[in-house]
Amino acid sequence: MDRSLSSDARELVASARALLAELVEEGIDQIDRSLATPAECEPAEDSAQPSKGPRESAVLQTDLLAEKPLWGRKPRLEEVREVLGECTRCGLCEGRKTIVFGDGNPDADLMFIGEGPGEQEDLRGLPFVGRAGELLTAMIERGLGLSRADVYICNIVKCRPPRNRTPLPDEVAACRPFLEGQIDAVRPKVIVALGKPATSLLLGRNVAITRVRGQWHEYRGIPLMPTFHPAFILRQYTPENRRLVWEDLKAALAKAQE
Ligand code: URA
Repeated sequence: MDRSLSSDARELVASARALLAELVEEGIDQIDRSLATPAECEPAEDSAQPSKGPRESAVLQTDLLAEKPLWGRKPRLEEVREVLGECTRCGLCEGRKTIVFGDGNPDADLMFIGEGPGEQEDLRGLPFVGRAGELLTAMIERGLGLSRADVYICNIVKCRPPRNRTPLPDEVAACRPFLEGQIDAVRPKVIVALGKPATSLLLGRNVAITRVRGQWHEYRGIPLMPTFHPAFILRQYTPENRRLVWEDLKAALAKAQE
């Protein structure tokens, strides 16, 4: 490899190689563009206009129903929460007690994205406060030496799925603009995707978490580290799984502190 490449470029090439290798392994020979991020789905820009960076194009993200931009360039979390309102955009509203929007530092360097609220979260209105949440909190506080209040934590869906099932594609799609708004509001230095559903959403394809965890990816220019979901670690509480998650979290923190 060209020695003059910066370490950033080398990392980018390495993660592109890893991604291509995974795609080949998974037998994927085409990408479903409907899974691409809203910014990527926008029509090509008028070449007469000054070009926009990826963050700026995300501004143009539209609410498909309202057909108007949802967020400014850097929305405030309160603004995103206000637009979410007492949401009835998908069927999950029928079983929920509380909308679980997110928790933590609005200027966090590290953002954790999980799957969806469970029973405790639904009751208390806060993400990751049940058993899996206690483990995540311990990993953040005792493992990484941060306070939970230093990071930002949210889920790909804001309402509890019945019997804690995996959220369905239409539920994830209905909630996605709010996740995008949270990412744009916080602008973390690093995102940690917890488990397969969050990782698959952010990578725009169905992934095997065992294959992609521990490797750097990117989500709209933000370094993304997929790792096992804490609920999986609770189920498979092996020294090996705990070591792997621990390594992923240490790598995420080190990158956020670069
Ligand atoms: N609690 C959450 O808030 N999210 C999960 O994904 C699991 C438990």
